[in-house]
Amino acid sequence: MGAMGMRSYRIIGGKRLQGNVHIHGAKNAVLPILAASVLGEECTIRNCPQLSDVAVSCRILEHLGIEVRQEGDCICTKSREGGHATIPCEWMHAMRSSILFLGGMLGRFGEATLCMPGGCSLGPRPIDLHLRMMEALGAAVHEEGDTLRCTAPHGLHGARLELPFPSVGATENALIAASAACGESILIGAAQEPEITDLIRFLNDCGAVIDPQPDGTILIEGRERLSGGEHTVIPDRIAAATYLCAAAVTGGEVTVFTDPHHLQAPLAALRRAGYFIHPEKDAITLMAPERAESFGMVTTLPYPGFPTDLQAVFMATACCTHGITTFSETIFESRYAHVAELCKMGADITVMGRTAVVAGVPQLYGADLRCTDLRGGAAVVLAALAAEGESTVTGIEHIERGYADFVPTLRRLGADITLLE
Ligand code: EPZ
Repeated sequence: MGAMGMRSYRIIGGKRLQGNVHIHGAKNAVLPILAASVLGEECTIRNCPQLSDVAVSCRILEHLGIEVRQEGDCICTKSREGGHATIPCEWMHAMRSSILFLGGMLGRFGEATLCMPGGCSLGPRPIDLHLRMMEALGAAVHEEGDTLRCTAPHGLHGARLELPFPSVGATENALIAASAACGESILIGAAQEPEITDLIRFLNDCGAVIDPQPDGTILIEGRERLSGGEHTVIPDRIAAATYLCAAAVTGGEVTVFTDPHHLQAPLAALRRAGYFIHPEKDAITLMAPERAESFGMVTTLPYPGFPTDLQAVFMATACCTHGITTFSETIFESRYAHVAELCKMGADITVMGRTAVVAGVPQLYGADLRCTDLRGGAAVVLAALAAEGESTVTGIEHIERGYADFVPTLRRLGADITLLE
């Protein structure tokens, strides 16, 4: 039993990781796809990862009147009559991405009553851009305290939609709602992440007519109902890069099976630091050099720039290189909660606003660590794998939201990590 009965990891660092990792379906693709399935008569979604956020999404779908059947990594949905045009507060607060159901609920019910999703450790996480998209499509939005009520009694209509910032979630909500609107919409300034492309593929597989243009704008022809269809979720590029960095920090060699095109910026940074990267059609191998240099400047940007979701993991890796790496976090207001945990292990990191300067150190040392959020948790685990001695990691439920089979996968690569129940 871990300290005070909390579930935790015990890690003995210093083991060189090597082997192959088959990457589970992308969390940030399957969540909007499940939200979009509200519009489909009958959907079959394959390569769904076993994650707590997926389980919450399935419960929300059932609450909305969608029958959900799970067989291994396949989720089958079937629309039934009825359902509630509401999402209980507990689910909105438990999972911020519950807001992604808004567009589909307006398409299915013509109304939606939610709680404001609330902030989290990355900063306030507002939803003003989501609401702006819904209003442009003809919904009326009323905020009363913590309650958000959106109505579209005459249905949604096609519109010109402009995003001042390529918000991933607002793009997804706009695509889902516009697919159910009457008429044509054009979305300008959309996010371009691979998970957005996967959502578009899913919606088109279900009968939507979404046509991304070479200049980044997206044309959408609304449909009364979507028939539904079959779809296989793309691999999780963030999980894949996390396992490559696990090899980097332990001086190992790991191959992950995912599309290297989804990780161009992170792979360029790893090459800059001297890691040997061998990309193939659907696989990437990283071999660590004797001595890895720093990453230089790492600035998080909307895709195809360096992804904010890899900032913490690359920071843990930078701690183990020789030189200075400067991170600039331009996407979230405060995404450095993991710094204090890394410094407990002997890391040399200075934070000034959205900038963090990391000076690599010859050795990290095991410590009692806490997961501050999903990616910050992965970062402290990587640091513990590299550290000399034993570490304990609590708050692991954060990690279980985004990494399926995290401990078995690391153990198969040779890590000495144990889950203490
Ligand atoms: C998605 O969050 C991902 N989550 C995040 O992954 C990821 O970090 C983020 O995109 C950026 O890539 C899912 O896909 C489920 P945003 P999302 O809307 O949609 C501001 C992980 O670790 N903003 O692109 O919430 C916002 O405050 C998670 O897997 C507004 O101001 O991200 C933030 O500063 C963490 N108003 C910035 O935009 C809005 O209406 C980026 O947010 C919406 C967002």
